[in-house]
Amino acid sequence: MDTQSLNLRLSEEHEALRRSVREFAKRKITPVAAHFDETGDFPMEIVKEMGKMGLMGIEIPEAYGGAGMDTVAYVLAMEEIAKADAATSTILSVNNSLFCHAIYRFGTETQKQKYLRDVATGEKIGAYSLTEPMSGSDAGNMKSRAVLSSDGTHYVINGRKSWVTSGPVADYVVLFTMTAPEHGHSGITAFLIETDKPGFAPGKKEPKLGIRASATSELIFDDYCCPVENVLGEVGKGFKIAMTVLDAGRIGIASQALGIAEAAYEASVEYCRTREAFGAPIGTFQMLQAKIADMKTRIEASRLLIYNAALAKESAKGTGGRYTTEASMAKLFASETAMFCAHQAVQIHGGMGYSKEMPVERYFRDAKITEIYEGTSEIQRLVIARNELGLR
Ligand code: CAA
Repeated sequence: MDTQSLNLRLSEEHEALRRSVREFAKRKITPVAAHFDETGDFPMEIVKEMGKMGLMGIEIPEAYGGAGMDTVAYVLAMEEIAKADAATSTILSVNNSLFCHAIYRFGTETQKQKYLRDVATGEKIGAYSLTEPMSGSDAGNMKSRAVLSSDGTHYVINGRKSWVTSGPVADYVVLFTMTAPEHGHSGITAFLIETDKPGFAPGKKEPKLGIRASATSELIFDDYCCPVENVLGEVGKGFKIAMTVLDAGRIGIASQALGIAEAAYEASVEYCRTREAFGAPIGTFQMLQAKIADMKTRIEASRLLIYNAALAKESAKGTGGRYTTEASMAKLFASETAMFCAHQAVQIHGGMGYSKEMPVERYFRDAKITEIYEGTSEIQRLVIARNELGLR
């Protein structure tokens, strides 16, 4: 029997990447995370530095400006950045898996040269826009429209999108909108949008509970002219592109959730060792020991599901194969683990857990979004069950 094929140890290369990202995050992100959370300012300087380290296009080949690494590298980087600051990891995640991955997988060579390179290097910022005010989980039910001009050279786009990560700062957006509403899902097309053109405006910036430094806004399209060359993939295939890309994105969010869970866990372990009550460290009390045990177990289970999804994505590369169930399971379990661990961490810290003087309060607010964006926990369960049952 070949037990080597089930070797769960990271390679030297992956370990080295993890170390360098961890060191960067500790030095550059941890000290300013609370500040950016308080102000809600976008951490542009940090984003540029992550770009220089190759983190903004981790899986994109070097020929297109990326770091040419694999999905395991991506999940490790996401985990380490999220452990320092979830908001910064949101920016990283969308840039990598929702923008760069979309262009690399579905773009033409011209589109890759024009839009992928600068975003993969972090010189420019990419966003992904699917959701609308009246279509979140029911993503196919969108009201925005793209109408082909009479001379066939461009589409005129009108409508309002919402909850777009990096919306106010993005240079380019992968936009999903209806070109043939009468065809439902098959009437959705993906477009590459340049945000410095007339007819585009970022709308209201969302005042969020957590991940406050990752700018999130509406996007408003008012007779925006998009050349036909900027259709991403085929006309009418936008919904499938959106879903395929979200499969990759969900692995990133799972890794973000793991990073938040670990941060909450490590703070709790430290507090259990150092805080005393009734004449002993609080970690000697069995009720708190149970919390530590449950947190650690769920964290390690999340990690295995994430690595499993990352390996499934690697195996699917170049085959067109799907890893939908693996990605959804990882996201579902890791995001609920982040919420569980952050909740337990606040409880373990007592009054201090409720104070902005300790970071666990931020972990608690940041964890919640992982159960919501890129598909709620309810949607992940629906996706897993439908795939298992072969039913819709
Ligand atoms: N990969 C490839 N194709 C897929 C797919 C996938 N993962 N999932 C579905 N499809 C295909 C189906 O095979 C089907 O194709 P055919 O018509 O050829 O059979 C087509 O897409 C329609 O599929 P469904 O009938 O299953 O579609 P549905 O309307 O029932 O919706 C859903 C399915 C799972 C609920 C989907 O709408 C969904 O995932 N909703 C959640 C959306 C989401 O995650 N939104 C977050 C947006 S990003 C964000 O949060 C903002 C940000 O900036 C981070």
